[in-house]
Amino acid sequence: MLANLLLAWFAQHARDLPWRRSRDPYPILVAEVMLQQTQVDRVLPKYHAFLAAFPNVAALASAPTAEVIRSWAGLGYNRRAVNLQRAVQVVQTQYGGEFPQSVEALRGLPGVGPYTAGAIACFAFEQDVVFMDTNIRRVLRRALVGPDSNDPPPHDRALLDLSAALLPNGQGWAWNQALMELGALICSATTPACGRCPIQRVCCAAAATGSPSLPRPLRRVAEGKREAYHGSRRWLRGRIIDALRQHPHLSLSHLGPLLKPDYRADDEAWLRDLVQGLVRDGLVQVDGDVVGLP
Ligand code: ADE
Repeated sequence: MLANLLLAWFAQHARDLPWRRSRDPYPILVAEVMLQQTQVDRVLPKYHAFLAAFPNVAALASAPTAEVIRSWAGLGYNRRAVNLQRAVQVVQTQYGGEFPQSVEALRGLPGVGPYTAGAIACFAFEQDVVFMDTNIRRVLRRALVGPDSNDPPPHDRALLDLSAALLPNGQGWAWNQALMELGALICSATTPACGRCPIQRVCCAAAATGSPSLPRPLRRVAEGKREAYHGSRRWLRGRIIDALRQHPHLSLSHLGPLLKPDYRADDEAWLRDLVQGLVRDGLVQVDGDVVGLP
């Protein structure tokens, strides 16, 4: 019942997103990596530009990493760009440019975790597999367990087993896309639109309270997170990569004031530590006092 209602809704209301038209694992991997931390509207233009710059596995595998990091501008979490290129380099060198199809082999690619491996197996190779992301987790939890609460959440393993049990044979692609779409369009974290929800009749959260109750003022939590981000280590790392996109090489003494207006010589240890973290992630190179993209 739940699956029928959800799939019928998806067939009618799904957004026409470019990666949904493809079954080629390369653009699907690009999309899934971009979508992991970034909203669809922001991903769309970057997705097209990235594929125009690096149209296939061979092009991305052989591109200078600095170019890949530059094309990632505006998406944030730059480490994803380096990992994406590494994954594709392994596809090129170990698999002759053809993606492996099993979840296990996909998991072996650098930076490819259970979500991405499942998403490629399902969205490119149309396998009936289940996997978890924040939208899927929220939808399954509300629909099958109950309203949001401060109780310990169910384990992902339990939710995944339920998802696998409900998945109609041969419809893994639509099932997983539909769960994500419902989470994005209707069953949002802060303002679920239960009145328009196709599975309201069978939803454990809606049945309990009329709508999934929100135990904490979630919107204020989201605002707090944004404020905490400004000035954080991740924010500073992003500013360093942004500066290097503009100026491929910068000395520490030029870079410092771009991050911290009152930067002084004795802040250099702090700056070096930030830069070393980026070196470890393959995002920058350091030569003496000069920092650059790899
Ligand atoms: N977020 C992550 N994967 C997605 C997909 N395939 N479609 C829409 N949103 C997504």
